[in-house]
Amino acid sequence: MTGSSCLITGGAGFIGCHLVRGLADVGWRVKVLDSFVPEEWAGRDPRAEYVAGNFSDRDLLQKILPGVDVLLHLASTTTPAMAYGRSAYDVETNLIGTLHLLEEALRQGVGRVVFPSSGGTVYGKVLRTPITEKHPTRPISSHGIIKLAIENYIQMLSHEKGLKYTIMRIANPYGPGQRPGASQGAVAVFAGKILNNEPVEIWGDGSVVRDFLYVGDLVQAVLAALRSKESVNQILNIGSGCGVSIRELLSVIEEVTGRRADVRFQPARNFDVPVNILSIKKARAKLGWQPETRLLEGVRDTVPWIEGFLSRR
Ligand SMILES: NC(=O)c1ccc[n+]([C@@H]2O[C@H](COP(=O)([O-])OP(=O)(O)OC[C@H]3O[C@@H](n4cnc5c(N)ncnc54)[C@H](O)[C@@H]3O)[C@@H](O)[C@H]2O)c1
Repeated sequence: MTGSSCLITGGAGFIGCHLVRGLADVGWRVKVLDSFVPEEWAGRDPRAEYVAGNFSDRDLLQKILPGVDVLLHLASTTTPAMAYGRSAYDVETNLIGTLHLLEEALRQGVGRVVFPSSGGTVYGKVLRTPITEKHPTRPISSHGIIKLAIENYIQMLSHEKGLKYTIMRIANPYGPGQRPGASQGAVAVFAGKILNNEPVEIWGDGSVVRDFLYVGDLVQAVLAALRSKESVNQILNIGSGCGVSIRELLSVIEEVTGRRADVRFQPARNFDVPVNILSIKKARAKLGWQPETRLLEGVRDTVPWIEGFLSRR
């Protein structure tokens, strides 16, 4: 499908910016719909068209969706931590908002939807690792429940109306562009604190295991999915395939920054699952893709961006 037209909701965000660049590089006509598109914004890609607005605004969607072949629905009004205790808001904005978007996409003849689901939250407490796509989905957070509900609605619309989709259950992406002050992204948050000589707060004892995926590898997975017919109507885990504890992650960041972290352990949060490592066997087979960036390499690439970000503030 290279050379076709796509709309990326949330295209001004962390993953979105990388994806805009990756898609434009291989000839896609890219439109971005994001509620936050500042006029004088350095992150703008001159090859893309930017529209400021809400992804659930049907009047706006009727203007910008015609001619779009693929919808990449990255915008999310919450993160896992932001959704905690705000489930009604999560349902109203993310779930209902996404249903408006999907219905309008179908009406306007969009051929395919790519949805970044959350490999870290849809499975809930893990029975076995690495987690395959067949693992039971019993999310314990509002974020995971909403992502799973959206997955189910996408599949329902596929069954009822022929909507084509690729659902990507993404692990923990990191890389340049992820802001250290955000409510998710352990690499950026920890590196930001260490570089600012601030204490690093860890929820629990640091034994929690996560699967950290370099954002460049994630972009390659999306590009591979758009190239491959085998990814149509599939749910795919997209991760590094490796588990790293929070303590291990911290020592990699210490090595790269050359500084010791001042760690403050806090009580564990009850919506954090203890272990999450995704099996990426299916993605390897369907996409002919595999992650190329080791954690140390990826962190080495990320830390200079965070230093630059902090120095500009
Ligand atoms: N970052 C992660 O750890 C991670 C992990 C798995 C899945 N994901 C999913 O990937 C997607 C992108 O994540 P990210 O880290 O780039 O997020 P981000 O917060 O950096 O970007 C999200 C973008 O969406 C925009 N947005 C929010 N509400 C909007 C609305 N109502 N209308 C239009 N735009 C709106 C924001 O302005 C922002 O630019 C999200 O759906 C997220 O749930 C992220």
